[in-house]
Amino acid sequence: MKSPGAPPLGGAPGIADTGDPFIEPDAHVSDSRTDAPLQAAIGIVEAALADASRRPVVHTCFDEATFTATHVVADPVTRASAVIDSVLDFDAASGRTRTTSVEAVRRHLADEELALQWVLETHAHADHLSAAPLLRSANAPLGIGAGIGEVHAAFAPVFGEAIAPPSDVPAFDRLFADGERFRVGGLDAIVLRVPGHTPACIAYVIGDAVFVGDTLFMPDYGTARCDFPGGSAAQLYRSIQRLFGLPDETRVFLCHDYKAPGRDVYAWETTIGAERAGNLHVRDGIDEASFVALRTARDATLPVPKLMLPAVQVNLRGGRLPPPEANGVAYLKLPIDAV
Ligand SMILES: [Fe+2]
Repeated sequence: MKSPGAPPLGGAPGIADTGDPFIEPDAHVSDSRTDAPLQAAIGIVEAALADASRRPVVHTCFDEATFTATHVVADPVTRASAVIDSVLDFDAASGRTRTTSVEAVRRHLADEELALQWVLETHAHADHLSAAPLLRSANAPLGIGAGIGEVHAAFAPVFGEAIAPPSDVPAFDRLFADGERFRVGGLDAIVLRVPGHTPACIAYVIGDAVFVGDTLFMPDYGTARCDFPGGSAAQLYRSIQRLFGLPDETRVFLCHDYKAPGRDVYAWETTIGAERAGNLHVRDGIDEASFVALRTARDATLPVPKLMLPAVQVNLRGGRLPPPEANGVAYLKLPIDAV
């Protein structure tokens, strides 16, 4: 379902789209039409909607401990694949890591005979540790948004040297700028900047699917929090409006699900049309001021995520754990009265 005033599904925008040359398009439509990366993303989605061979096959491994959906995105033709937002299991009480979650991803890659081409992060997560180092290789570079330095700067006063880049290899192989295009096998893909939850959040549009990270959740649950350092509810609203410029049929894959009240099963896939029609926080018709008020009030009630302190330290270094000290044991920092 598309509301009145929505951008056209491709084609050159112009006066004809308003139906009347004397009617100014509203600001949202105007922004969408001059947003070159968004227009390119719409083109990719539309081409995929018209041709099944351009649509990725998506398999999701859900980690119930952190409510995280790791997506394995595969080109059905070439069998090249990308893994988005992997999880390293971590028990904060004991300091123990496990690889159960990432092993499920690896098993799927092996079972389906998929060649891993990309290890992707939508952002530096605060609720789980990334397993990227266990997947990344020379043939499968690790990518994240180019704005990651802003997140690093926001946390530097708290963590200092603990988040210094690893000395042997870069924390990330590829820093994606807004509008940067890439391929997963033969599938067209493009990056859209969607800041708000963090200043460096990005969404990956791959064929007819968009992997939105922590922006939108399922329509019955709403949106991601915006109260981390560098976060902004107003920015998140605008980022979501940008995503809403994609065709309604675009498949939307979320980074998390927490089961909404009244829903018994986890869910991580929806569509742009379903989000626009029914998202609890930000469906069509909800303006920026109302969203910011709602989001800010809700964020004020949320506790610090259980794994935030370990997760940020590890994830800003591309998922690398700290190097062991002389006794062979690695340590994470616990800042006191600093967060
Ligand atoms: Fe997050």
